Amino acid sequence: MKTTVVGSGFVGQTAAMRLLEKGLGDVVLIDIIEGKPQGLALDLMEAAPVEGYEPTVVGTNDYTDTAGSDVVVITAGFPRQPGMSRMDLLGKNAGIMRDVIANVVPGSPDAIIIVVSNPLDEMTFLAAEASGFPKQRVLGMAGVLDSARLRYFIAEKLGVSTTGVEAMTLGSHGEAMVALPRHATVNGKPLPELVDEQTLEQLFQRTRDGGAEIVAFLKTGSAYYAPSASVVAMVEAIVKDTKAVLPVCAWTTGEYGIRDVYVGVPAKLGRGGVEEVVELDLNDDELAKLREAAEGIRAKCADLAQL
Ligand SMILES: NC(=O)c1ccc[n+]([C@@H]2O[C@H](COP(=O)([O-])OP(=O)(O)OC[C@H]3O[C@@H](n4cnc5c(N)ncnc54)[C@H](O)[C@@H]3O)[C@@H](O)[C@H]2O)c1
Repeated sequence: MKTTVVGSGFVGQTAAMRLLEKGLGDVVLIDIIEGKPQGLALDLMEAAPVEGYEPTVVGTNDYTDTAGSDVVVITAGFPRQPGMSRMDLLGKNAGIMRDVIANVVPGSPDAIIIVVSNPLDEMTFLAAEASGFPKQRVLGMAGVLDSARLRYFIAEKLGVSTTGVEAMTLGSHGEAMVALPRHATVNGKPLPELVDEQTLEQLFQRTRDGGAEIVAFLKTGSAYYAPSASVVAMVEAIVKDTKAVLPVCAWTTGEYGIRDVYVGVPAKLGRGGVEEVVELDLNDDELAKLREAAEGIRAKCADLAQL
C-alpha cells in the first residue's frame, strides 16, 4: 500500500507520522516548499528504529514520486487564522486544489482521494470534478473529526471515559453541522436522558465551534492532532478494507432524499472508497437540517465555477 500526503504542513506531517506508526503502508510526503517534506521524511525515518515501524516515507517536491498511490490525502492549502471562517479560504484553496489534482491524478489514476483542505465540502466537490474520478473514490474528512470532538466534550462534561461515548455528526463542516442527539450514547445510555436540553445545545455548539476554539488559542494556524488522527482512521478503513461506517463527506445519489451533492453522511469505507452511504433512521427535524446543509453546500459549489 502506498499513501501520498499532499501538503507537509501540520496536518500532513502528523498524518504521515500516524500512518507510519500504524503500519498502514509506505508514505510519500509532497509539498511545494523545497526541503520541507525531505527534512520531515528524514526525521520520520530516523524515528523508525525507535518506534519499530517497517514502512518507509519519502519526502519530495516531484509528483513522479507519488505515482501508483493507492490513497492520496490532500492537506495542501491555507489554514484559518483567528477571526476567519473556513469559507474565507475558498478562493485561495480552490487554486491550490486544482493544481494538486492536475499533478497527482496522471500518476495515480486508480487512487482514492481523501480531501482535508478547507472549506472541506466544497474542496471535496472540486477534487471530484477536477479529477474526473468516480465519485465513490473521492471523499472528504470532517465528520470523523467533528464526532470525535463531540465525543470528547460529552466525556469531559459527564466525567466519563471517551471510550464509552458514541456520537455522530452529519451535514457540513461548520455552522450547518447536524448533531444527532438520539444517536448519541454514554455507556449505552441515550445522551438526552443524561443531560438537559440546554447542556445538549451547548455541547453541539462547542463542537460546531471546535475548530475556531483551537484557532483562537494557536493564533497562527489551526488544529492538527485530531484532524490527522481522523483522516488516518479513514485511510485505515480503506487500506484494510474494514467496511467501517464512518461519517464522511460523500457524494449522494438520493440517500436521505439528497442527490448530486457532497455532504456529511455515514458511509461504509473499504478498498473501493465509499462503498455505501448508510441511511440512519432520522426524524423529520434531523432530515430537514441535513437537507438544508446539503443545499448550502450545493450553492457554494456553484460559486466555485466563478473562481
Ligand atoms: N477537514 C478538516 O476537518 C480540517 C482540519 C484541520 C485543517 N484542515 C485544513 O487543512 C489544510 C492544511 O492545514 P495545516 O494546518 O496543515 O496547514 P499548514 O499551513 O501547516 O500546511 C499547509 C501546507 O500546504 C502546502 N501547500 C500549499 N500549496 C501547495 C500546493 N499547491 N501543493 C502542495 N502543497 C502545497 C504548504 O506549503 C504547507 O506546507 C488547511 O486548509 C486547513 O484549513 C481541515
